Amino acid sequence: MNKQTIRDVAVAGKRVLVRVDFNVPLDGTGITDDTRIRAALPTINALRDAGARVVLLSHLGRPKGTVVAALRLAPVAERLSELLGTSVATSTACIGPEAEAVAAGLRPGEVALLENVRFHAAEERNDPAFARALAELGDLYVNDAFGAAHRAHASTEGIAHVLPAVAGLLLERELAVLGSALEQPERPFAAIIGGVKVSDKIEVIDHLLTRADELLIGGGVANTFLRAQGYEIGRSRHEPDKVALAAELLERAGQSDCELLLPTDVVVAPEAADDVPHQVFAVDQTPANGMILDIGPQTVQHYVQAVESAHTVIWNGPLGLFEIEPFSAGTRALAAAVGHCPGTTIVGGGDSIAAIEQAGLSDRITHVSTGGGASLEFLSGRMLPGVAALAER
Ligand code: 3PG
Repeated sequence: MNKQTIRDVAVAGKRVLVRVDFNVPLDGTGITDDTRIRAALPTINALRDAGARVVLLSHLGRPKGTVVAALRLAPVAERLSELLGTSVATSTACIGPEAEAVAAGLRPGEVALLENVRFHAAEERNDPAFARALAELGDLYVNDAFGAAHRAHASTEGIAHVLPAVAGLLLERELAVLGSALEQPERPFAAIIGGVKVSDKIEVIDHLLTRADELLIGGGVANTFLRAQGYEIGRSRHEPDKVALAAELLERAGQSDCELLLPTDVVVAPEAADDVPHQVFAVDQTPANGMILDIGPQTVQHYVQAVESAHTVIWNGPLGLFEIEPFSAGTRALAAAVGHCPGTTIVGGGDSIAAIEQAGLSDRITHVSTGGGASLEFLSGRMLPGVAALAER
């Protein structure tokens, strides 16, 4: 990465405004997964150790420009102070006199977490006046919110044009790992792309065709491809208006060095429920009243073999409806294969990460990305606005 990081700047005594992605899953006010908070600790601690006064900004959920009590960051501040072992100051605003007083009151090494930036509609509009108001709170800006770096918002992009702006350690690591998988993967390089909609994955599939040796497709994404191959898919979820695009991708794959693998057999049921009979069919035998809900055992075997012999693996998206037990075998088998692959393994996207966690194999993964949408956009070959705006090295 040719961007400056916190290692390139002097921070002692300065108010350092750090954009983090504390968009964590909540169950009421309880945090059900604090991975994103933990992932920001190295940057926060490095800044504290260097004598910075650390002012944190984040979004939580999608409040759409209004104050939503359930999306206040107070529970996150509480969890953060437990993890840091020190109290974290808070403010009920992220701009204005209260926020400014909180930032000004910090001593070197102390930390504050301001209120949800998305309580202001100006945040998502990337309003320059709002970016300037945020910038009032700091002398220097650090972007460590990899998960939100694909958003050109005031706290992720606009502000970087107002204050000196550098990358945090999490952002740096995400870009380094994903970047080297794309640019200099140890081969063979296998990419597994699943999930519901092909429209979310078109760009990444297109880009990975120029990078990977094998592209393994599953989930609802595969259904649209199976239609493009001319197979009947019964009542399976797919995107009829994307079949032509899938056909184009198949054609492009045929001309590329990358082998695009699609299911050869599938698990079919009359509906997506765990108390209905399900059966395995070859892809050319899917019954007209059936729904494809997982990849079949023969496909699992092919995909697992590809993963086992790969030296680099990227995985985004489940291969079937894995939250319903009878349709979870494909995703579970791939989770185990990725977890046991001795090469570099990178997993992104909430459902694939959940599958790896359920398999108890998170520790075996080289890199679990904190960004779902951001990692997909990066793997699609796009420059992320939150990264582009940072100072060059
Ligand atoms: C995420 O959860 O992917 C990031 O926090 C970005 O959230 P957003 O999709 O609401 O912008």
